[in-house]
Amino acid sequence: MQRLETLEATQAFVAANRTHTVALVPTMGALHEGHRALIRHAKTLADIVVVSIYVNPLQFGPNEDLATYPRTLEDDAAACQAEDADALFLPTDAMMYPNGQLEQTLVAPPISLTNMACGASRPGHFVGVCTVVLKLFNLIQPTIAVFGEKDAQQLTILKRMVADLNVPVQLIGHPIVREDQGPLKGLALSSRNKHLVDTLDQQAALLLNEWLIAIETLVKQSGPISSYTSFGTARQQVFANIDPTVAERFKLDYLLAVDDATFQPVDTLKPGVRLLMAAHIGSSENTVRLIDNRLLS
Ligand code: PAF
Repeated sequence: MQRLETLEATQAFVAANRTHTVALVPTMGALHEGHRALIRHAKTLADIVVVSIYVNPLQFGPNEDLATYPRTLEDDAAACQAEDADALFLPTDAMMYPNGQLEQTLVAPPISLTNMACGASRPGHFVGVCTVVLKLFNLIQPTIAVFGEKDAQQLTILKRMVADLNVPVQLIGHPIVREDQGPLKGLALSSRNKHLVDTLDQQAALLLNEWLIAIETLVKQSGPISSYTSFGTARQQVFANIDPTVAERFKLDYLLAVDDATFQPVDTLKPGVRLLMAAHIGSSENTVRLIDNRLLS
């Protein structure tokens, strides 16, 4: 596996692989089984798989967790090697933003896709994501790029960017991978889960998935139902038997229903609607922000 750490090495790699199909798996590192599933999926789609690791400062707000975002480069390299990735792209800030972040030309996705959910909670976040992903595409020139569906809003926005800007890359979504055993069973895998070391935080983190499942169960039982009613009823069911010290560690950021085709908010829950949730987990001085989603079928 090649490590691409300079612009020259990257350009030489791209030139050498021009006749091959190339799949890019963009990541911010701290790779987990979810990322490994993306790499394995990418291997089935293209001749060459490149994994990028770059903790993109442009997509973090001033009070967010850029400084504490987990960085585990050597473990990540070993995981990419074990999954038989062909190259690890490790751009630096100087390579990505040579004129500094304030002087960077930006890619702004449409307001209709960014004025809710993570776009509303994290102003500027999707401008940072679109800008870095377009730069990664221009640097690696992949045929295909694979993204996790946990970041459903991100994937929708990137698909729109690619269509609107005629970027010749096919975007593929990969289903959410969840913890399949242990105290976090059911939790969507995330690099930020590394911060969930406290037992009460772990129990609070499970509430995202449990609340989404409870809403889905209500929809299955009742047929189309108002989001307002079902969100509240499901919350009561899930939180009824929870220790108050655990419930205190769960602070909902948003819970929203969108039409999966248009990604616009809807009031009635039925198949084809995607539930989106984000919550801050932990005690007030020390929280981890987690997201999850569920497509109603
Ligand atoms: O999903 C992520 O890890 C990041 O937002 C991405 C797509 C790698 C861009 O920095």
